[in-house]
Amino acid sequence: MSIFEQFKITGKVIVITGGAGLIGRRHTEAVLEGEGIPVLLDIFKEPLEKVKEDFLSRYPGAKIETYVADITDRKCLEGIRDELLSKYGHIDGLINNAANNPKVEGGSKNLGAMRFHNLPLSIWEDDMKVGLTGAFLCCQVFGYEMEKQRSGVIINISSDYGVISPNQNIYKKEGVPEEEQTVKPVSYSVVKHGIMGLTKYLATYWAKSGIRVNTLCPASLSNGQDEEFVKKISELIPMGRMSKPHEYPATVLYMLSDASSYMTGATVILDGGRTIW
Ligand SMILES: NC(=O)c1ccc[n+]([C@@H]2O[C@H](COP(=O)([O-])OP(=O)(O)OC[C@H]3O[C@@H](n4cnc5c(N)ncnc54)[C@H](O)[C@@H]3O)[C@@H](O)[C@H]2O)c1
Repeated sequence: MSIFEQFKITGKVIVITGGAGLIGRRHTEAVLEGEGIPVLLDIFKEPLEKVKEDFLSRYPGAKIETYVADITDRKCLEGIRDELLSKYGHIDGLINNAANNPKVEGGSKNLGAMRFHNLPLSIWEDDMKVGLTGAFLCCQVFGYEMEKQRSGVIINISSDYGVISPNQNIYKKEGVPEEEQTVKPVSYSVVKHGIMGLTKYLATYWAKSGIRVNTLCPASLSNGQDEEFVKKISELIPMGRMSKPHEYPATVLYMLSDASSYMTGATVILDGGRTIW
């Protein structure tokens, strides 16, 4: 097999949680480029349908499955697993991508509400539920199927904030008192560090079952943030700029395919060098 052919995932069924979101779309693109079958799970119907429509116009004839699903609901995940198995007979990959990702930069309405001392318990619990419990349940339900098949790949999506602490200075607004300044909530850091624990645990647990489990850390995605924020964050990045959505799919396809057949338990960081500075 040529090196290029190792990147093919033809006919492989890959479940992507939070598939209708910003990065979920890029994961979908990676699977389609590799000739796989993306299965998008998201809580919102309309964006899911839009993503499917957009990709079908770019990849006519491709198979794309979408499910309105809450990943914190085990029964719902089991139903999807059973449907996929009766339709395709196998589940080959899982990208644990869904997480609450509060956009606190540039003009957030949440001034002060996310600060450590007053972060509502309900937000903490919901963040843990989606980012960690959801990923745990998906690994139980879809990963166990891979264990029975004795093959599969799992990518857990963390962040540069799974490696370093947020530099809260970049979220600061001029003229706002310190106690009202918005911060990236502690729950985000805990979820993004925690998911790496899930990777390491399962990478060893399933190492001899043909399942590889790795972490991908995207960082600083350019998504219409205001100029002041872009300037502040760029100064923290050795490459001096934010990342673009098209800079992710090739790495995701590498991690999903046999091109990375000896990689498990690893952390792949796409951050323009931010975490080494
Ligand atoms: N955007 C960034 O700059 C960035 C940087 C580093 C890491 N990340 C990570 O990448 C991942 C995706 O981030 P994004 O920016 O695309 O976020 P996003 O908010 O655009 O997408 C997340 C998706 O998850 C879905 N979702 C939320 N709860 C769900 C649930 N219970 N069940 C099913 N789906 C649910 C949402 O509806 C949304 O479509 C997250 O894990 C995030 O932490 C993002």
